[in-house]
Amino acid sequence: MPPPREITPRELAEHSAPESCWTALRGRVYDLAPYLKFHPGGSHFLVAVGGKDATKVFDSYHAWVNAGALLASCLVGKLVEGEGGERAAEATAEEAEAAADAAEAEFAAARAAAAAAAAAAAAADAEAAAAALGAAKAGAGADGG
Ligand code: HEM
Repeated sequence: MPPPREITPRELAEHSAPESCWTALRGRVYDLAPYLKFHPGGSHFLVAVGGKDATKVFDSYHAWVNAGALLASCLVGKLVEGEGGERAAEATAEEAEAAADAAEAEFAAARAAAAAAAAAAAAADAEAAAAALGAAKAGAGADGG
């Protein structure tokens, strides 16, 4: 096996988008992009830690999860210090919660819009049904008369 690729905090920070979402866990850097849709806690938490060291926040949610095994195929390399001894930014629980709340608000808005659309469709159906009923009655009257 080749030696692991070395990743500086700066390079890590450049990958903070859902399409390329790198995070550091216990000194290893993973690209979470392929894992986003499988995360039981939702993708927004992972996007919130993109570009940062997620070790602390990861442990505060689920220190028992074996990320090394789950993310083996997502390994990019190992985290090293920057030239000036700079360290990777640490993701915080507050940021993660804020991202989760924002995603939840978006889902709620989408659910409300879908419910309104369904109600409008039902109302339109009711109108059409009433019109059909009226036509049927008129038809019956004509036949019987
Ligand atoms: C970075 C790699 C990560 C992996 C591989 C991972 C994996 C997992 C797994 C396997 C579970 C299910 C655990 C169980 O049911 O016992 C889970 C749940 C969860 N994770 Fe993660 N996780 C990661 C990062 C994070 C981060 C950074 C956060 C928060 C900032 C987070 C928040 C959560 C939450 C809230 C749940 C609970 C979901 C629920 O049961 O409703 N995870 N994660």
